[in-house]
Amino acid sequence: MINSNDEQSTDTRHDTPQQVSIKRKLKSVAENILRHCPPAFRLASRLYHKMNNSYRTLSPGAPQAIRKSFQYLIQRDGEVTGDYYEFGLFRGYTFEQAWQHCQDLNLHDVRFHGFDSFSGLPTATGIDQTDGRFFKGQFACSLKEVEANLESKGVDLNQVNLIKGFYEDSLTPALREQYPFKHAAVVMLDCDYYSSTVTALDWMEPYIQPGTVLLFDDWYSYGESEELGQQKAYQEFLERHPQYLSEALWEFKNHGKAFVLKDASQP
Ligand SMILES: C[S@@+](CC[C@H](N)C(=O)[O-])C[C@H]1O[C@@H](n2cnc3c(N)ncnc32)[C@H](O)[C@@H]1O
Repeated sequence: MINSNDEQSTDTRHDTPQQVSIKRKLKSVAENILRHCPPAFRLASRLYHKMNNSYRTLSPGAPQAIRKSFQYLIQRDGEVTGDYYEFGLFRGYTFEQAWQHCQDLNLHDVRFHGFDSFSGLPTATGIDQTDGRFFKGQFACSLKEVEANLESKGVDLNQVNLIKGFYEDSLTPALREQYPFKHAAVVMLDCDYYSSTVTALDWMEPYIQPGTVLLFDDWYSYGESEELGQQKAYQEFLERHPQYLSEALWEFKNHGKAFVLKDASQP
């Protein structure tokens, strides 16, 4: 049931372990070189996604991190009563894997809410322009294509709620009235930018509660810096909401980190 390709960011199903390892090393070396030259990085990224349009995730550790989160909740509470929320779907791979893992763990009441422009990243502004790595339209994949990907993998679309739009426009108070959003069991934040993470966390606040697991797929996207990206966005969220304490759970590939929220009044 679970895709054995979980730990792979490229479609390497037909490769030997040695070929997989070589491909990964080459990719990582190329990325490190290209990061020092943003225009070349952007060009390479465009070409890479054009040539390699296979159905895959960019975050090899994310599917297992999602499974681990649900297992953590089952172990802690004996059940899972909340929903799964994902910000940043690209082709839908991690979202689909969340669904697969929940079926496998007999969590049939979980609903799956996915938020994306379905036309890629917005233009980088403010601190999101820092290293010039991200650009407008990067990771574009249409809603139709994502739905087709999910259906082809057997996902029951009746359990799925896909919200199209740039967060700044789509994550409104009015949206709350349109769907029966439940409190969040697991939130996957895979939207690259500081600004997108701020908007996503703010909109999620009424659905977040002590016990919610937050997965930041881009936590170390800027290394250890607390002044950029998701680290800054989460730090500011916690400062705005002192009712929560945050406990680190584990890290996952490539740049991810998991946290659980605690009630600050009950240390
Ligand atoms: C790295 S991709 C997500 C990868 C995906 N989770 C996977 O399976 O590998 C980042 C996604 O975030 C979305 N995104 C980032 N900022 C956004 C914003 N402000 N509004 C809407 N979508 C946004 C992009 O469209 C893109 O699909």
